[in-house]
Amino acid sequence: MGETNAPHGGRLVDLLVTGAAAGALRETAQALPKIALTSRDLSDLELLTVGGYSPLQGFMTRADYLGVVNDMRLASGVAWPMPITLAVSAEQAASLKEGQDVALADDSGRVLAVLAIAEKYPYDRQLEARQVYRTEDEAHPGVAALYAQADVLLGGPVRVLEAPGHDDFPRYRLTPAQTRAECASRGWRTVVGFQTRNPVHRAHEYIQKCALEIVDGLLLHPLVGDTKSDDIPADVRMRCYEVLIENYYPADRVLLSVNPAAMRYAGPREAIFHALVRKNFGCTHFIVGRDHAGVGNYYGTFDAQRIFEEFAPGELGITPLMFDHTFFCRKCDEMASIKTCPHDAESRVTLSGTQVRDMLKGGIAPPIEFSRPEVARVLIEAMQERVTPHHAI
Ligand code: ADX
Repeated sequence: MGETNAPHGGRLVDLLVTGAAAGALRETAQALPKIALTSRDLSDLELLTVGGYSPLQGFMTRADYLGVVNDMRLASGVAWPMPITLAVSAEQAASLKEGQDVALADDSGRVLAVLAIAEKYPYDRQLEARQVYRTEDEAHPGVAALYAQADVLLGGPVRVLEAPGHDDFPRYRLTPAQTRAECASRGWRTVVGFQTRNPVHRAHEYIQKCALEIVDGLLLHPLVGDTKSDDIPADVRMRCYEVLIENYYPADRVLLSVNPAAMRYAGPREAIFHALVRKNFGCTHFIVGRDHAGVGNYYGTFDAQRIFEEFAPGELGITPLMFDHTFFCRKCDEMASIKTCPHDAESRVTLSGTQVRDMLKGGIAPPIEFSRPEVARVLIEAMQERVTPHHAI
């Protein structure tokens, strides 16, 4: 049996209340005022519940929030780069008191959890934007989501009756505990995590396999929470992974599972966040390539790698594996990176996301040096399904 990495903060958090306590909590919860969670809140609640955000046990109180925003650390000193907060309107906040419980419900009104309000507090969105996203520009999708949040934050511990449910990808929704158990049963002592929000291409495959050369197992962990509207939907990305694994990966060395988190597009800060969440899922290593979690031109190509230097050795407890810009080089006749290929730009097969989308929309497969044909087929089919009207009258 293998043994994977310890969770962040030392213990895997589990907020689910079970047995008789759950019955009693459900009863009291029905009488409490209700907060309707947004889809992003639901993603956070899910990750809090299963310990994906260990050591967090609820939504952040002010000291944790400010520590994170200003210094990437919780009040306890533990490294944590992204605020995990619950925002409510000023009207709703006015009707709630510190010290009281409140029910957290999904969009159908179903009560999922109870928050003990330790603190309600105002916050400075511009400060958060500058510190976390390195820009106040509302054209940045993460900043736009932050600016759209309600006015007051509620912080405190959460007890969960039922984790938010999903109909999609049931086979691939492993909790951190289940992921750890699966890795252990395969005898993996070292596991590298791969974050992604895009359809898999050859450069992804290359860095995943380079990483796999030096560890026991690869956790392919696509993010399937909210992404921006022009990103490829998660179900399509998952089908790409299925055909890729079937045709090109050793099944006993790869585990495909999803990360229910919403995408923040916070570049460097989010790279740390992605790494810590994967640590909680049992990873010992984490891949950080070019412009990790970036969007537009807000971040330098390797800022998401440099930020790891801002933490003392051991503070993060997961080893980043950094990769330079990778591509297929026709002169090398293989996948390579800026670091390993001596040839000029013309020899290198690189395509922008927009170029690839345009090709796929026109039913044209990107070159095999860029995308595996099986993957290109899935993407072309998906594009055509989308342009074919489903609701013709
Ligand atoms: S991300 O927003 O989740 O980072 P994406 O799914 O494109 O976007 O990237 C997943 C991971 O692969 C990230 O670590 C990213 O830095 C890396 N990556 C993507 N494309 C390349 C490439 N051509 N060369 C090196 N690393 C890459």
